[in-house]
Amino acid sequence: MVSIRLSTIIALVIAVILSIFALYITTYIQTITTPTPPPSTSPSGEEFKTPGVPTNITIGTEIFLPMPRIKGNISLEEALSMRRSIRDYKPEPLTIEQLSQLLWAAQGINEVVYGFRTAPSAGATYPLEVYVVVGENGVKGLPAGIYHYNVHRHSLTVVKLGDFRDELARAALNQPWIRNAAIDIVITAVYERTTKRYGERGIRYVHMEVGHVGQNIYLQAAALGLGTVAVGAFYDDEVRKIIGAPENEHPLYIMPVGVPVKLYKLKYEDLIRYYESQRLKTS
Ligand SMILES: Cc1cc2nc3c(=O)[nH]c(=O)nc-3n(C[C@H](O)[C@H](O)[C@H](O)COP(=O)(O)O)c2cc1C
Repeated sequence: MVSIRLSTIIALVIAVILSIFALYITTYIQTITTPTPPPSTSPSGEEFKTPGVPTNITIGTEIFLPMPRIKGNISLEEALSMRRSIRDYKPEPLTIEQLSQLLWAAQGINEVVYGFRTAPSAGATYPLEVYVVVGENGVKGLPAGIYHYNVHRHSLTVVKLGDFRDELARAALNQPWIRNAAIDIVITAVYERTTKRYGERGIRYVHMEVGHVGQNIYLQAAALGLGTVAVGAFYDDEVRKIIGAPENEHPLYIMPVGVPVKLYKLKYEDLIRYYESQRLKTS
Protein backbone atom coordinates (compact mmCIF):
# COMPACT_ATOMS: atom_id res chain seq x y z
CA MET A 1 0.00 0.00 0.00
CA VAL A 2 2.78 2.34 1.06
CA SER A 3 4.81 1.45 -2.10
CA ILE A 4 1.80 2.22 -4.41
CA ARG A 5 1.35 5.63 -2.80
CA LEU A 6 5.05 6.39 -3.18
CA SER A 7 5.07 5.51 -6.89
CA THR A 8 1.94 7.62 -7.43
CA ILE A 9 3.60 10.57 -5.75
CA ILE A 10 6.77 10.11 -7.86
CA ALA A 11 4.64 9.93 -11.04
CA LEU A 12 2.81 13.10 -10.02
CA VAL A 13 6.05 14.94 -9.30
CA ILE A 14 7.47 13.88 -12.71
CA ALA A 15 4.23 15.00 -14.43
CA VAL A 16 4.39 18.42 -12.75
CA ILE A 17 8.09 18.84 -13.69
CA LEU A 18 7.34 17.86 -17.33
CA SER A 19 4.38 20.32 -17.50
CA ILE A 20 6.53 23.18 -16.18
CA PHE A 21 9.26 22.28 -18.71
CA ALA A 22 6.73 22.13 -21.61
CA LEU A 23 5.30 25.51 -20.59
CA TYR A 24 8.81 27.02 -20.47
CA ILE A 25 9.69 25.64 -23.94
CA THR A 26 6.40 26.93 -25.47
CA THR A 27 6.96 30.41 -24.01
CA TYR A 28 10.57 30.42 -25.25
CA ILE A 29 9.55 29.40 -28.81
CA GLN A 30 6.87 32.13 -28.84
CA THR A 31 9.48 34.69 -27.74
CA ILE A 32 11.92 33.84 -30.52
CA THR A 33 9.31 33.50 -33.29
CA THR A 34 7.10 36.54 -32.52
CA PRO A 35 8.31 39.52 -34.59
CA THR A 36 9.32 42.55 -32.57
CA PRO A 37 6.83 45.37 -33.20
CA PRO A 38 8.33 48.50 -34.79
CA PRO A 39 9.66 50.91 -32.16
CA SER A 40 7.32 53.78 -31.24
CA THR A 41 10.23 56.16 -30.67
CA SER A 42 13.27 57.10 -32.77
CA PRO A 43 16.82 56.10 -31.68
CA SER A 44 17.05 59.47 -29.91
CA GLY A 45 13.85 58.76 -28.00
CA GLU A 46 11.55 61.14 -29.91
CA GLU A 47 7.86 60.32 -30.40
CA PHE A 48 6.55 59.30 -33.85
CA LYS A 49 3.55 60.90 -35.61
CA THR A 50 3.81 58.85 -38.84
CA PRO A 51 5.30 55.43 -37.86
CA GLY A 52 9.09 55.69 -38.17
CA VAL A 53 9.07 59.48 -38.59
CA PRO A 54 10.00 61.51 -35.49
CA THR A 55 7.92 64.68 -35.00
CA ASN A 56 10.97 66.89 -34.44
CA ILE A 57 13.13 66.45 -37.56
CA THR A 58 16.46 68.23 -37.90
CA ILE A 59 19.62 67.65 -39.99
CA GLY A 60 21.07 64.26 -39.08
CA THR A 61 17.76 62.78 -37.86
CA GLU A 62 17.33 59.14 -38.84
CA ILE A 63 13.94 58.05 -40.14
CA PHE A 64 13.08 54.36 -40.24
CA LEU A 65 11.24 53.44 -43.42
CA PRO A 66 8.36 50.94 -43.27
CA MET A 67 9.63 47.45 -44.02
CA PRO A 68 9.58 46.63 -47.76
CA ARG A 69 7.11 44.13 -49.19
CA ILE A 70 8.27 41.18 -51.25
CA LYS A 71 4.87 40.53 -52.81
CA GLY A 72 3.18 42.92 -55.21
CA ASN A 73 -0.03 43.29 -57.17
CA ILE A 74 1.27 42.65 -60.68
CA SER A 75 3.61 40.14 -62.31
CA LEU A 76 7.12 40.93 -63.52
CA GLU A 77 5.86 40.48 -67.10
CA GLU A 78 3.12 43.08 -66.54
CA ALA A 79 5.63 45.52 -65.01
CA LEU A 80 7.93 45.03 -68.01
CA SER A 81 5.05 45.65 -70.41
CA MET A 82 4.15 48.88 -68.56
CA ARG A 83 7.69 50.29 -68.20
CA ARG A 84 7.87 53.66 -69.93
CA SER A 85 9.65 56.96 -69.33
CA ILE A 86 6.88 59.06 -67.81
CA ARG A 87 7.46 62.80 -67.44
CA ASP A 88 4.01 64.21 -66.55
CA TYR A 89 2.96 63.91 -62.93
CA LYS A 90 -0.09 64.94 -60.91
CA PRO A 91 0.56 67.27 -57.95
CA GLU A 92 -0.06 64.37 -55.55
CA PRO A 93 2.18 62.97 -52.80
CA LEU A 94 3.62 59.47 -52.63
CA THR A 95 3.10 57.43 -49.50
CA ILE A 96 6.07 56.57 -47.29
CA GLU A 97 5.39 52.89 -48.12
CA GLN A 98 5.85 53.66 -51.84
CA LEU A 99 9.10 55.52 -51.09
CA SER A 100 10.26 52.57 -48.97
CA GLN A 101 9.53 50.18 -51.83
CA LEU A 102 11.29 52.31 -54.48
CA LEU A 103 14.46 52.59 -52.36
CA TRP A 104 14.44 48.89 -51.59
CA ALA A 105 14.14 48.18 -55.32
CA ALA A 106 17.07 50.53 -55.96
CA GLN A 107 19.57 49.28 -53.37
CA GLY A 108 17.70 47.17 -50.81
CA ILE A 109 19.14 44.13 -49.08
CA ASN A 110 17.80 40.81 -50.42
CA GLU A 111 20.36 38.46 -48.84
CA VAL A 112 21.14 38.71 -45.17
CA VAL A 113 24.39 36.73 -44.77
CA TYR A 114 26.62 38.95 -46.94
CA GLY A 115 24.22 41.88 -47.32
CA PHE A 116 23.82 41.42 -51.08
CA ARG A 117 21.33 43.73 -52.78
CA THR A 118 18.43 43.88 -55.24
CA ALA A 119 20.80 45.11 -58.00
CA PRO A 120 23.99 43.23 -58.95
CA SER A 121 27.41 44.77 -58.28
CA ALA A 122 30.80 43.79 -59.74
CA GLY A 123 32.58 41.87 -56.95
CA ALA A 124 29.90 43.15 -54.55
CA THR A 125 31.94 46.36 -54.28
CA TYR A 126 28.76 48.49 -54.11
CA PRO A 127 29.97 51.85 -55.42
CA LEU A 128 26.54 53.54 -55.45
CA GLU A 129 24.86 55.88 -52.96
CA VAL A 130 21.22 56.89 -53.09
CA TYR A 131 19.67 60.24 -52.14
CA VAL A 132 16.05 61.40 -52.24
CA VAL A 133 15.03 64.98 -52.92
CA VAL A 134 11.54 65.18 -51.39
CA GLY A 135 9.34 68.07 -52.53
CA GLU A 136 6.86 70.03 -50.41
CA ASN A 137 3.99 67.57 -49.88
CA GLY A 138 6.02 65.07 -51.93
CA VAL A 139 5.70 62.22 -49.45
CA LYS A 140 2.84 62.07 -46.91
CA GLY A 141 4.20 62.61 -43.40
CA LEU A 142 7.75 63.50 -44.53
CA PRO A 143 9.01 67.10 -44.60
CA ALA A 144 10.52 68.46 -47.83
CA GLY A 145 14.25 67.89 -47.81
CA ILE A 146 17.22 65.91 -49.00
CA TYR A 147 17.69 62.49 -47.49
CA HIS A 148 20.43 59.87 -47.74
CA TYR A 149 19.36 56.21 -47.91
CA ASN A 150 21.01 53.89 -45.36
CA VAL A 151 21.04 50.56 -47.18
CA HIS A 152 21.59 48.26 -44.19
CA ARG A 153 19.12 49.97 -41.84
CA HIS A 154 16.51 50.71 -44.52
CA SER A 155 16.33 54.23 -43.16
CA LEU A 156 16.86 57.82 -44.27
CA THR A 157 19.15 60.42 -42.76
CA VAL A 158 18.22 64.08 -43.19
CA VAL A 159 20.94 65.94 -45.15
CA LYS A 160 19.06 69.23 -45.66
CA LEU A 161 15.53 70.49 -45.01
CA GLY A 162 13.54 72.45 -47.63
CA ASP A 163 12.30 71.96 -51.18
CA PHE A 164 15.30 71.66 -53.56
CA ARG A 165 13.47 70.36 -56.65
CA ASP A 166 13.59 73.69 -58.47
CA GLU A 167 17.34 74.05 -57.86
CA LEU A 168 17.86 70.45 -58.97
CA ALA A 169 15.84 71.05 -62.18
CA ARG A 170 18.00 74.11 -62.96
CA ALA A 171 21.13 71.97 -62.54
CA ALA A 172 19.61 69.56 -65.06
CA LEU A 173 19.02 71.92 -68.00
CA ASN A 174 15.65 72.97 -66.57
CA GLN A 175 13.96 69.64 -67.25
CA PRO A 176 10.48 70.34 -65.82
CA TRP A 177 9.76 66.75 -64.71
CA ILE A 178 12.46 67.14 -62.04
CA ARG A 179 10.61 70.18 -60.65
CA ASN A 180 7.14 68.63 -60.92
CA ALA A 181 7.85 65.15 -59.53
CA ALA A 182 6.89 64.34 -55.95
CA ILE A 183 10.46 63.14 -55.36
CA ASP A 184 13.74 62.91 -57.28
CA ILE A 185 15.97 59.94 -56.56
CA VAL A 186 19.63 60.83 -57.15
CA ILE A 187 22.19 58.04 -57.58
CA THR A 188 25.86 58.85 -57.10
CA ALA A 189 28.97 56.69 -57.48
CA VAL A 190 32.19 56.39 -55.50
CA TYR A 191 34.30 54.95 -58.35
CA GLU A 192 37.27 53.99 -56.11
CA ARG A 193 35.24 51.29 -54.36
CA THR A 194 35.21 49.38 -57.66
CA THR A 195 38.38 50.63 -59.42
CA LYS A 196 40.62 49.68 -56.49
CA ARG A 197 39.74 46.07 -57.27
CA TYR A 198 39.30 46.20 -61.06
CA GLY A 199 41.41 49.18 -62.16
CA GLU A 200 40.15 51.23 -65.15
CA ARG A 201 37.67 48.49 -66.07
CA GLY A 202 35.86 49.24 -62.82
CA ILE A 203 34.58 52.47 -64.38
CA ARG A 204 32.48 50.56 -66.91
CA TYR A 205 31.28 48.24 -64.14
CA VAL A 206 30.00 51.23 -62.14
CA HIS A 207 28.12 52.52 -65.19
CA MET A 208 26.58 49.12 -65.80
CA GLU A 209 25.53 48.92 -62.18
CA VAL A 210 23.70 52.24 -62.18
CA GLY A 211 21.78 50.94 -65.22
CA HIS A 212 20.61 47.95 -63.18
CA VAL A 213 19.49 50.23 -60.36
CA GLY A 214 17.69 52.52 -62.80
CA GLN A 215 15.81 49.60 -64.31
CA ASN A 216 14.83 48.33 -60.85
CA ILE A 217 13.36 51.76 -60.09
CA TYR A 218 11.53 51.84 -63.43
CA LEU A 219 9.97 48.41 -62.80
CA GLN A 220 9.09 49.09 -59.17
CA ALA A 221 7.49 52.40 -60.18
CA ALA A 222 5.44 50.60 -62.85
CA ALA A 223 4.37 47.95 -60.31
CA LEU A 224 3.23 50.68 -57.91
CA GLY A 225 1.33 52.59 -60.62
CA LEU A 226 3.89 55.42 -60.48
CA GLY A 227 5.89 57.13 -63.23
CA THR A 228 9.61 57.78 -63.55
CA VAL A 229 12.28 58.69 -66.11
CA ALA A 230 16.04 58.17 -66.07
CA VAL A 231 17.74 61.55 -66.40
CA GLY A 232 21.42 61.67 -67.36
CA ALA A 233 21.65 65.29 -68.60
CA PHE A 234 22.83 67.56 -65.77
CA TYR A 235 25.85 69.41 -64.40
CA ASP A 236 27.55 66.90 -62.10
CA ASP A 237 29.12 69.38 -59.68
CA GLU A 238 25.95 71.40 -59.28
CA VAL A 239 23.87 68.31 -58.54
CA ARG A 240 26.49 67.03 -56.10
CA LYS A 241 26.48 70.33 -54.18
CA ILE A 242 22.66 70.51 -54.05
CA ILE A 243 22.35 67.06 -52.52
CA GLY A 244 25.24 67.73 -50.11
CA ALA A 245 27.34 64.76 -51.31
CA PRO A 246 31.11 64.69 -50.72
CA GLU A 247 33.57 65.41 -53.60
CA ASN A 248 34.38 61.74 -54.24
CA GLU A 249 30.72 61.04 -55.09
CA HIS A 250 29.71 61.56 -58.72
CA PRO A 251 26.01 61.85 -59.62
CA LEU A 252 25.05 59.45 -62.43
CA TYR A 253 21.27 59.46 -62.57
CA ILE A 254 18.39 61.61 -61.40
CA MET A 255 15.11 59.70 -61.38
CA PRO A 256 12.03 61.85 -60.78
CA VAL A 257 9.06 59.82 -59.49
CA GLY A 258 5.44 60.92 -59.30
CA VAL A 259 1.82 59.92 -59.71
CA PRO A 260 1.46 59.82 -63.50
CA VAL A 261 -1.09 61.92 -65.38
CA LYS A 262 -1.46 58.85 -67.59
CA LEU A 263 -0.13 55.36 -67.02
CA TYR A 264 1.38 53.56 -69.99
CA LYS A 265 -0.48 50.37 -70.91
CA LEU A 266 0.54 48.04 -73.72
CA LYS A 267 -2.33 46.32 -75.58
CA TYR A 268 -1.28 42.71 -75.99
CA GLU A 269 -3.06 42.42 -79.40
CA ASP A 270 -1.01 45.40 -80.63
CA LEU A 271 2.20 43.65 -79.63
CA ILE A 272 1.25 40.44 -81.44
CA ARG A 273 0.20 42.42 -84.53
CA TYR A 274 3.51 44.30 -84.43
CA TYR A 275 5.64 41.13 -84.34
CA GLU A 276 3.52 39.45 -87.01
CA SER A 277 3.79 42.42 -89.38
CA GLN A 278 7.56 42.59 -88.81
CA ARG A 279 7.87 38.92 -89.68
CA LEU A 280 6.08 39.51 -92.99
CA LYS A 281 8.70 42.06 -94.05
CA THR A 282 11.46 40.92 -96.38
CA SER A 283 14.90 42.16 -95.40
C1 LIG B 1 21.51 56.92 -70.00
C2 LIG B 1 20.17 57.57 -70.21
C3 LIG B 1 20.05 58.95 -70.07
C4 LIG B 1 18.81 59.57 -70.24
N1 LIG B 1 18.70 60.90 -70.01
C5 LIG B 1 17.49 61.52 -70.11
C6 LIG B 1 17.36 62.90 -69.78
O1 LIG B 1 18.31 63.59 -69.44
N2 LIG B 1 16.12 63.43 -69.87
C7 LIG B 1 15.02 62.70 -70.22
O2 LIG B 1 13.93 63.27 -70.25
N3 LIG B 1 15.13 61.38 -70.54
C8 LIG B 1 16.33 60.78 -70.48
N4 LIG B 1 16.44 59.43 -70.73
C9 LIG B 1 15.23 58.65 -71.07
C10 LIG B 1 15.17 58.32 -72.57
O3 LIG B 1 14.84 59.51 -73.27
C11 LIG B 1 14.11 57.26 -72.81
O4 LIG B 1 14.54 56.07 -72.18
C12 LIG B 1 13.88 56.98 -74.30
O5 LIG B 1 13.25 58.08 -74.91
C13 LIG B 1 13.04 55.73 -74.57
O6 LIG B 1 11.79 55.86 -73.94
P1 LIG B 1 11.28 54.78 -72.86
O7 LIG B 1 12.23 54.85 -71.68
O8 LIG B 1 9.91 55.20 -72.51
O9 LIG B 1 11.34 53.44 -73.49
C14 LIG B 1 17.67 58.80 -70.58
C15 LIG B 1 17.81 57.41 -70.72
C16 LIG B 1 19.02 56.80 -70.52
C17 LIG B 1 19.12 55.30 -70.63
